[in-house]
Amino acid sequence: MINPPYYASDSRYDGEMTYERCGKSGLLLPRISLGLWHNFGDVNTLANSRDMLHFAFDHGITCFDLANNYGPSYGSAEETFGQIMKKSFMPYRDEMVITTKAGYDMWPGPYGEWGSRKYLFASLHQSLRRMNLDYVDIFYSHRFDPNTPMEETLQALVDIVRQGKALYVGISQWPYEASQFAYDYLAAHDTPCLIYQGRYNMIDRRKEEEGIVRQAAENGVGFTAFSPLEQGILTDRYLNGIPEGSRASIGKFLKPDNITPELIECLKGLNAIAERRGQTLAEMSLAWLLKDQSVTSVIIGSSSIGQIRDSLGALKNLSFSPEELKEIDRLLADRSRFLSR
Ligand SMILES: NC(=O)c1ccc[n+]([C@@H]2O[C@H](COP(=O)([O-])OP(=O)(O)OC[C@H]3O[C@@H](n4cnc5c(N)ncnc54)[C@H](OP(=O)(O)O)[C@@H]3O)[C@@H](O)[C@H]2O)c1
Repeated sequence: MINPPYYASDSRYDGEMTYERCGKSGLLLPRISLGLWHNFGDVNTLANSRDMLHFAFDHGITCFDLANNYGPSYGSAEETFGQIMKKSFMPYRDEMVITTKAGYDMWPGPYGEWGSRKYLFASLHQSLRRMNLDYVDIFYSHRFDPNTPMEETLQALVDIVRQGKALYVGISQWPYEASQFAYDYLAAHDTPCLIYQGRYNMIDRRKEEEGIVRQAAENGVGFTAFSPLEQGILTDRYLNGIPEGSRASIGKFLKPDNITPELIECLKGLNAIAERRGQTLAEMSLAWLLKDQSVTSVIIGSSSIGQIRDSLGALKNLSFSPEELKEIDRLLADRSRFLSR
């Protein structure tokens, strides 16, 4: 049977999702965004990608996070998104915040990665074509380039906005000093940085420890946390070993060796706290990030509708007692040994 046309759910803004102002901007972001790093490439089934995207939008997730090289293969997550855009999302384009990034290796030769003006413009043009879009809402410098003058990268971001190819810009994983330079440069050129995208979760607190979460807030910049579930570790996914088809079983970005007996022991302790709160471990892990207003949004990954449904449940309880926080910190006191990246 030919797929029926898609009509977004009438109840998508009925209160299940909440929206937070992104820094000092006018833009509201859903507290939960969906990222397409894994499970939306050309190695995955289009039907599952489509169903997850529809489900997310039907439940108030308006922000979709992409990058030029998401897949595999590189570019194919944007192509998948472009197909859904053409077939079902186009009438809803103005209800969405669609992001992409450039910075990592994308094509061979000297112009296919890092932070030159040449690469950033070429990459964004390719992304727009793949996604069937005229503009993206947020364009990110995906990583700091120590060998390109920061002014060149940042001026390219300014010009991308001036040309209407992106409405806002952000930086991802830039170090502290360089981030301050970026905030100052972009503000001075009438293109204030909208958002910092950083790796942050209960296990990986480096962005908090380096002062980057606070720095973003102090500069009126939003902060969005990626890998909020530490690639699935902070869920019930690995409580009983490594299931077939899971990210750890594929072994590229999360290795089976990461799932140690000590980690599982710790996860069981965290899971017990979550159960006492009436939450799943995934819900508690997201709530732990979202309790802090300076975390504008968390960007979840997903391989099924069920996982997105579970993650949405986090929003029902974002408050923690001091005892709960202390117990989480005690279980994760030696957390650096559990980092997957
Ligand atoms: N800026 C950057 O440099 C950067 C880097 C990485 C990611 N990101 C962005 O952040 C997004 C999210 O990253 P991520 O995929 O690592 O995030 P994550 O949310 O930490 O991990 C997602 C994985 O966790 C598992 N999972 C999710 N919900 C679950 C649930 N309720 N129960 C059990 N397992 C669950 C799934 O694993 P299975 O696949 O095993 O089912 C899913 O693929 C990316 O898509 C991308 O948009 C940005």
